[in-house]
Amino acid sequence: MNVVILAAGMGKRMQSALPKVLHPLAGKPLLRHVIDTARTLSLSKLCVIYGHGGAAVPEMVGQLAQDTGAAIDTALQQPQLGTGHAVMQAVPQLDENVPTLVLYGDVPLTTAASLARLVEAAGSDKLAILTVEQANPFGLGRIVRENGSIVRIVEEKDASPAERAIREINSGIMVVPTPHLKRWLAALSNNNAQGEYYLTDIVAQAVADGVPVVSAHPSAEWEVAGVNSKVQLAELERRHQLNIANTLLEQGVTLMDPARIDVRGELICGRDVTIDVGCVFEGRVELADGVTVGPHCVLVNANIGAGAQIKPFCHIEQAVVGEQSQIGPYARLRPGTELGQDVHVGNFVEIKNSTVAAHSKANHLAYVGDATIGSRVNIGAGTITCNYDGANKFRTVIEDDAFIGSDSQLVAPVTVGKGATLGAGTTLTKNAPAGKLTISRPKQMTIENWTRPVKAKK
Ligand code: UD1
Ligand code: CA
Repeated sequence: MNVVILAAGMGKRMQSALPKVLHPLAGKPLLRHVIDTARTLSLSKLCVIYGHGGAAVPEMVGQLAQDTGAAIDTALQQPQLGTGHAVMQAVPQLDENVPTLVLYGDVPLTTAASLARLVEAAGSDKLAILTVEQANPFGLGRIVRENGSIVRIVEEKDASPAERAIREINSGIMVVPTPHLKRWLAALSNNNAQGEYYLTDIVAQAVADGVPVVSAHPSAEWEVAGVNSKVQLAELERRHQLNIANTLLEQGVTLMDPARIDVRGELICGRDVTIDVGCVFEGRVELADGVTVGPHCVLVNANIGAGAQIKPFCHIEQAVVGEQSQIGPYARLRPGTELGQDVHVGNFVEIKNSTVAAHSKANHLAYVGDATIGSRVNIGAGTITCNYDGANKFRTVIEDDAFIGSDSQLVAPVTVGKGATLGAGTTLTKNAPAGKLTISRPKQMTIENWTRPVKAKK
């Protein structure tokens, strides 16, 4: 299969400097959705036609090809003289031995199953069009049939009143035998209301040449919905999120409200996972069996162990949370955080590039950065690892069973030995020996006969 993705249009109604097909849906550019779906078919060529937006589109495509090791070609269409003219730009790259599938870079939600049905309907020698009955077909190309067979497609602007009443529309997605496609494209004219080379005109040519024209249908209208404005983008985003939510529900995940979840990547859930409202999942997130995620959490590339509870308003990025751990409310786990089993991280605690072993706790107001923390360690409120001297970062090591008194600063590099205790308010600049109390604190004193100043009389 050759796949040609049309993405040269300018998308004026997006009101944006970013080319339309690069606007994200579920965190991924529209065009990327189309490419990913196309990749589910057996491809021999994939060519993206670009035009508006300068180098941004081919750069994105080039990066994607590099990241995934797949061959993706691009072809510039300049100026943009219509959909037929767009496909012409790909002609030199098409393999004549396999059919060509035309997709639109701004139609992101077509399912692989629908494309497979279309490809199946086309076989090797038919022209197959993905069509759908639409309550409001305004602005779209209409499928004109005679005795049930498709005879041509007419654009809204060229249609007669009778043709405008047709509700079966052209999605624009079609499969065409490639040698025919090349011939038909070469014969297109722009003698129409918009002065464009319409790809749709190849349908009448197929009929004239006796090539069968067939149709296939998507399972829902949104599969062929294009994005022309931010309103349509937002509508498709919600549609897509609802689809994801429904899949999660079918897998047994409890969603407190399927309309209030955003998955911008891959969310993998075990059994009996519960997700409260307003959570955002980005990249690859894994929630093991029995995990609960409270309202308004953001999880990015995170791995949450079985039975862990993520309480409301947590931000967790590139972090691993051990089973049965309790995080939040209001906790922040930054990249490189690895928490063992039954670790408690409470409100306003930030952890970065640190490992925390089983049963340790930092329940309130702490910063733990570049630290290695053992088991059963208690980190008191207000504890800070001073890991950065303005130029370099240093590690703090806190061994098993240590107790860090509240409001302590650990000036790295520094080690707190096994079972050591730091008195509250300690500024630790040298290692604290195992099993002992270390304290650095000015001696407390009380000034006798001291009186509080009073306001001077004017
Ligand atoms: C086209 C179809 C119409 C169909 C509709 C579905 C034609 C003549 N008409 O309408 O039957 O119902 O899509 O949305 O094919 N593009 C280019 N280069 C161009 C023109 C367009 O790459 O010169 C790309 C656009 O970026 C977009 C797609 O082709 O991704 C469709 O273009 P658009 O202008 O939205 O569709 P119409 O031509 O109005
Ligand atoms: Ca202090």
